[in-house]
Amino acid sequence: MGTVRRLTRLTVSAWVAATVVFAATESSRLRAGTPAQQLSLPAQVGARIFVDKSLSASGQLACATCHDPAHAYGPSNDLAVQLGGPDMSLPGTRAVPSLRYKDFTQPYADVAVNPDGVSAPGPGGGFTWDGRADTLAAQAQIPLLAPNEMANASPADVVNKLQRSAYADLFRAAFGSDVFSDTAQAFQSALDALQAYQLEDDDFHPYSSKFDLYADNKIGGTLTASEERGREIFDDPNRGNCFACHYAGAAANGSSQLFTDFSFEAISVPRNADIPANADPTYFDMGICSRPDHPLPDSAPFCGMFKTPTLRNVAIRKVFFHNGKMKSLHQVLEFYNTRDTHPELWYPTVNGVVQKFDDLPAQYQANIDPQLPLDGRAAGSPPPMSEQDLVDLEAFLDTLTDADVANQVSSAPAVPALGTNGSAVRTLMLMLLTVGLLSVTRWGASRVGRDPRQLGSTSGGANRPCMVSTRAARSALRTRYVRPGSPPRPGRLA
Ligand code: HEC
Ligand code: HEC
Repeated sequence: MGTVRRLTRLTVSAWVAATVVFAATESSRLRAGTPAQQLSLPAQVGARIFVDKSLSASGQLACATCHDPAHAYGPSNDLAVQLGGPDMSLPGTRAVPSLRYKDFTQPYADVAVNPDGVSAPGPGGGFTWDGRADTLAAQAQIPLLAPNEMANASPADVVNKLQRSAYADLFRAAFGSDVFSDTAQAFQSALDALQAYQLEDDDFHPYSSKFDLYADNKIGGTLTASEERGREIFDDPNRGNCFACHYAGAAANGSSQLFTDFSFEAISVPRNADIPANADPTYFDMGICSRPDHPLPDSAPFCGMFKTPTLRNVAIRKVFFHNGKMKSLHQVLEFYNTRDTHPELWYPTVNGVVQKFDDLPAQYQANIDPQLPLDGRAAGSPPPMSEQDLVDLEAFLDTLTDADVANQVSSAPAVPALGTNGSAVRTLMLMLLTVGLLSVTRWGASRVGRDPRQLGSTSGGANRPCMVSTRAARSALRTRYVRPGSPPRPGRLA
C-alpha cells in the first residue's frame, strides 16, 4: 500500500517535473526562435507534410511550393495564379496569400464583431480570400484535394501516400500506432498536423519587423521622417484611411497590430485577363457570394467582397489583391489614390466609355465600399493623396517586413506605376497634372499659412460635402450587409 502510494507520488512528481521542463523549453523556444525539433509531435508531422511534394498527384507540388518559406510563406514568383493538377498544367483562380500572421483568425461569420470596437458587425474572419474555411485544419484539405492544386483523388489517396512516407512512424507516434487503420481519422490527423505546425512554429509569426521594434520602443525602431509621415497618412481618416480596414490596434485573444480587421469589403479591383478563367466573359469571382454556402440571390449583398489581408510583409510581394492584378506596391497605392479620379487608368475603355468596376456585375456594384481613399469622388477631381504621400506610405509599409525577408524589399526609389496597362504617356501626363495640382495647393497653402500637406489632404478630403469617409458612415452601410436569415448576434459589440 505504502509502496504503491510512494510510487504514485513519484510518478506524479516526475510528471510535474516533466511538465515544468516542457513549459520551460516551450517558453524559451518562444523567446529564442524555433528549432523545428522542439515543436509538438503533431506540429513536427505538419512540418514534414508542408514540404512533401509526394503528396501531390504531379509529385511536384507541396504547400511550400506555393507558400514559400523564403518569401514569408507567399509566392516566390509574380504569377497572378499558380499552376497545379496532375501534370502541372491547370491554373488556379486566385493569388497565393502569405501564411504569416493567420494564427488569430477567427472562423468566418456574416455578422462578425469588428476588433476596432466601433464598427458595426459585418462579414469577417475565416481563411482564404472568401473566408470559406473556418480553421487552418479545414483549410488544408482544400489544396490537398483541389483538382488544379495537389489533385489527390480522395482523402484515402492522401492517407496511402502518408503511410508510405519517410515520416510514417513519426505520424504514428503523434497520432497513435493504429492511426492508419481509419482513413477518415488519419486524414483529419494530417490536417490537424498542418494546423499545429502553422500555429506553433514562430516562423509563421515572427514579429521581427522594423515596425515591431518601433511599436515596442526598441533599438532599431526609429522611423525615418518619410516612414513616420507614411504612418500618419496610414492612420489619417482624411488621407490614407488605411487603418479603417487594415486595423493595427489591439484585437481578440491578445493579438495586436495585425494590419487587418478581418473584415470583407468590395473595393473592385480591375478584372485580370492573366487569369485563364476570366477568358469566359460570364465568369466572375465575386468573393463571399461565390461560395457554395452563400448562393444567389440571397447572398447578393456579399458579392464582390474579399477578405482584408494583413499588410505585414506586403512589401515583398510581387502580385497583389485576390486576383494578382497589381504587380507592385506602388501600383496598389496609385490604384487606391486614383481609382475614382482617373478610372481610365485602371479599367478598359469601350467605345469611349470607361468600364469602371469591370470585374463586378452592375447589379452588385452598390456593395462597393464608399470609404476614403476609395470614396467614389468624381473623375477629374483631386486625389486624396499626393505623390509624396504615396512614397511615404510605401516607406511605412516597407517597415512591416519581417527581418528574415527584409532584403527582398526593393530599395529602388518608387517609380510611378500608374494604370494597369502601363502607358508611359498617361503616366507622364498624370505626373505633370499631380505636380501642377501640388504647386497650386502649395501656393494656396503659403497664402493662408497652413501646412501644405494638411491642405492637400483636406482639399480633396473631408470638406467635400457629399463625401462618405467616416467609420460611422461605413457602419451604417454595414447594417445593409446582414445576410437574410442570419440575425445579428446580440451584445457582441464592445
Ligand atoms: C498551387 C498553389 C498552392 C498550394 C500547393 C497550396 N496552396 Fe494554400 N493557397 C493557395 C491559394 C491560391 C490560396 C487562396 C485560395 C482562395 O482564396 O480561394 C491559398 C490559401 C491558403 C490559406 C489561407 C490563407 C488566408 O489568408 O486565409 C492557407 C492557410 C493555406 N493556403 C495553406 C496551405 C497548405 C497547408 C497547403 C498544403 C497542404 C497549401 N496551402 C497548398 C495556393 C496554394
Ligand atoms: C474599405 C476597406 C479598406 C481600406 C480603407 C483600405 N484597404 Fe487595402 N484592402 C482591402 C481589401 C478588402 C483588400 C483585398 C481586396 C481584393 O483583393 O479584392 C485590400 C488589399 C490591400 C493590399 C493588397 C495586399 C495583398 O496581399 O495582396 C494592399 C497593399 C492594401 N490593401 C493596402 C492598403 C493601403 C495602403 C490603404 C490606405 C491607402 C488601404 N489598403 C485601404 C480593404 C481596404
